[in-house]
Amino acid sequence: MSTRILVVYYSATGNTAKLAESLAKGAAETGAEVRVRTVAETAPPEAIATNPRWQAYVDAGPRAELATLGDLEWADGLAVGSPTRFGGAASQLKSYLDTTGGLWAKGKLANKVATSFTTASTAHGGLESTILAINNVFYHWGSIVVPLGYTAAHLMESGNPYGGSWVSRKSAEPDDVALQALHIQGTRLATIATFVAEGLRSSGV
Ligand SMILES: Cc1cc2nc3c(=O)[nH]c(=O)nc-3n(C[C@H](O)[C@H](O)[C@H](O)COP(=O)(O)O)c2cc1C
Repeated sequence: MSTRILVVYYSATGNTAKLAESLAKGAAETGAEVRVRTVAETAPPEAIATNPRWQAYVDAGPRAELATLGDLEWADGLAVGSPTRFGGAASQLKSYLDTTGGLWAKGKLANKVATSFTTASTAHGGLESTILAINNVFYHWGSIVVPLGYTAAHLMESGNPYGGSWVSRKSAEPDDVALQALHIQGTRLATIATFVAEGLRSSGV
């Protein structure tokens, strides 16, 4: 049975979406079955209209299917991504995460392997605080949290052991250094999720 990986993200202007796609590729290369999902846009039209890049992204339509609770239950491993919003995750992503109480109460989210990623416009604008905030949800679920660390030589260059990230100066799209870090993160997530899922299945947990 293939390891099942869910990549779920919110993106307003496309940067987090690109990070998600690279992470998904890295996971898929291990032979894992990968679902890439986004979450609903909940901002009012007048807020979206204040940012032409946000408006264009919304007008182009969703880049992925919307995540369901079934996707979370299905997954052995999860990667959750959000742009940094005032040092934390976007409310659109949090709204989705806040619908998981029923699954949590039944213990359906325990023992999943989980990792997170983000992008911000400045190097000290809250990359780590956003990743740590997403990880707080994982702790409540009983997930096995997988940081990126400096587990590959490339990560000394991309430089965020908390999780894949991108500093989008002047709205720049993720560069190859950042995308490679996300690819490594996807491979690492799927590899560790495989170890854990096989162990759980063989032990009947
Ligand atoms: C409401 C709002 C809040 C933001 N807060 C931060 C922040 O706290 N720190 C930062 O460096 N960038 C911040 N940004 C910039 C975004 O995180 C950045 O542009 C990111 O790359 C957008 O990702 P996306 O294209 O996936 O939407 C903020 C942007 C918006 C619209």
